[in-house]
Amino acid sequence: MSAEEAIFQIAEEVSTCTKCVLHESRKKSVPGDGPADAEIMFIGEGPGFHENEQGHPFVGASGKFLDQLLAQAGVTRADVFIANVVKCRPPGNRDPLPDELAVCDSYLEAQIQAINPSIIVTLGRFSMNKFFPGAKISTVHGQMQKVGERFVIPMFHPAAALHQAALKPSILGDFAKLPDQLNAARVALGKPIIVQKVKKKVEEIPDDSPQQLNLF
Ligand code: URA
Ligand code: SF4
Repeated sequence: MSAEEAIFQIAEEVSTCTKCVLHESRKKSVPGDGPADAEIMFIGEGPGFHENEQGHPFVGASGKFLDQLLAQAGVTRADVFIANVVKCRPPGNRDPLPDELAVCDSYLEAQIQAINPSIIVTLGRFSMNKFFPGAKISTVHGQMQKVGERFVIPMFHPAAALHQAALKPSILGDFAKLPDQLNAARVALGKPIIVQKVKKKVEEIPDDSPQQLNLF
């Protein structure tokens, strides 16, 4: 089965899943969005009001902020896979419960196996706890660590930074480091480095610009 087929099949299973109580109140399940060959995977907490309505992750206020943060890292949504630790909305946006996290984790694990990203960015403490149980986000945020076959970078949840202005510079700074961390991960994992920044600069220079000569 290709990675794309696996991702599709997981989304199908999630849409009819009744493994935890969250299925009772969901409108739409939110399996996650993005290319099956994404190099970076983001893992948030769970669907909120708008995600439950639309069936897609991070489409509300924190999603708008996430888009700004992605731009800060020079990537777009089309480049990354975005998922959550629970695929159905906890009522009233309460925290997901330990048994809900435990039973939903098989879908997330299957997504990680299919996508095989070089980097996983965890957003908030629930997805951080999956990889670094007991870690303090205020201490470890922005630090890339090898976990098995890949690298994991814990970051603050965009919603936390929206509600606590003091966190905003931290989350912006952490996202700004992502391009260099991705290159470091590629080197460590023996994957080719794609020199996107240079390519972009060449494209930006108009054809008749004398500067163009300097590039060759
Ligand atoms: N917050 C999350 O953690 N995930 C979403 O999909 C939306 C908001
Ligand atoms: Fe199933 Fe996960 Fe939804 Fe619970 S949250 S019903 S385990 S898909």
